[in-house]
Amino acid sequence: MGERPLGSSGLVVPAVGVGTWRTFDVRGEAAEANARAVVDAAVGVGATLFDSSPMYGEAERVLGRALSGRRSSATVATKVWTSSPSEARRQIDAALAFFGGRVDLYQVHNLVNWRDHLTALERLRDQGRVRAIGATHYSASAFPELEAVMRTGRITTIQVPYNPAQREVEARILPLAEELGLGVVVMRPFGEGRLFRRAPSDADLQPLRAYGVTTWAQALLKWILSDARCHVAIPATSKPLRVLENAAAASPPWLGPAERAYVTRLGEAA
Ligand SMILES: NC(=O)c1ccc[n+]([C@@H]2O[C@H](COP(=O)([O-])OP(=O)(O)OC[C@H]3O[C@@H](n4cnc5c(N)ncnc54)[C@H](OP(=O)(O)O)[C@@H]3O)[C@@H](O)[C@H]2O)c1
Repeated sequence: MGERPLGSSGLVVPAVGVGTWRTFDVRGEAAEANARAVVDAAVGVGATLFDSSPMYGEAERVLGRALSGRRSSATVATKVWTSSPSEARRQIDAALAFFGGRVDLYQVHNLVNWRDHLTALERLRDQGRVRAIGATHYSASAFPELEAVMRTGRITTIQVPYNPAQREVEARILPLAEELGLGVVVMRPFGEGRLFRRAPSDADLQPLRAYGVTTWAQALLKWILSDARCHVAIPATSKPLRVLENAAAASPPWLGPAERAYVTRLGEAA
């Protein structure tokens, strides 16, 4: 698995990690064992950045449990998501308990009440309980505000959506992230799964074989990771075998501009 510095965050991360929205929001032994099997597969193949949030129901708890006994082999990214400072304290205390007293990347989810939360997270970073601080948003309508947060100098990573059907970050966010040296975590690499509805055929993928691409999921991940401004993609899956499939896209050869344009066209038709 290829690893890379996550911008100026001080973290070194695999190029493919694991998202936990929906897939880790589960209860009960069988469902939690399945989540653990997803983590087993990810740890086995080195896809060891896990992204979660208190917005995702049970996900932080389930992830924390799945990492028990091997917390140090993971980079945990989670979020604070509330307008209330007291609820933020509760969320942070809960996450620190789930993740062995330390969160590697603490993000302000969807920029909610970011000024207050950044102050709280900076205090935790000074205490050594948080290693890096970031901000996320899923909607292009919030990108002007995200730009403002990026320019404060108080965050070292952003998390944004990027796939062939959702390319708004190309206009200003990725250039600004590069200028400021910020780490970029890419959410929704598969458009929440929508990009599989009309997936390209094997024949369509043939021109990408020389780049190690054998599936549409790998084409989409390579498309993201071939842009040097994007450091890690975090696809969510409930299937351990798909973790292996996705992780296989994390190393060179990277696509050139012509191959990226080809995948863009395939994605626009998907
Ligand atoms: N505002 C925010 O901060 C924010 C917003 C959105 C997302 N996120 C983060 O980003 C992560 C990823 O985004 P997402 O979960 O919305 O969507 P996504 O990763 O784009 O898509 C997930 C879907 O793709 C399917 N999938 C995964 N691997 C596949 C493969 N190899 N072949 C076919 N299908 C595959 C999964 O189904 P199966 O389970 O059946 O494999 C799942 O339905 C989230 O989990 C979350 O951690 C953050």
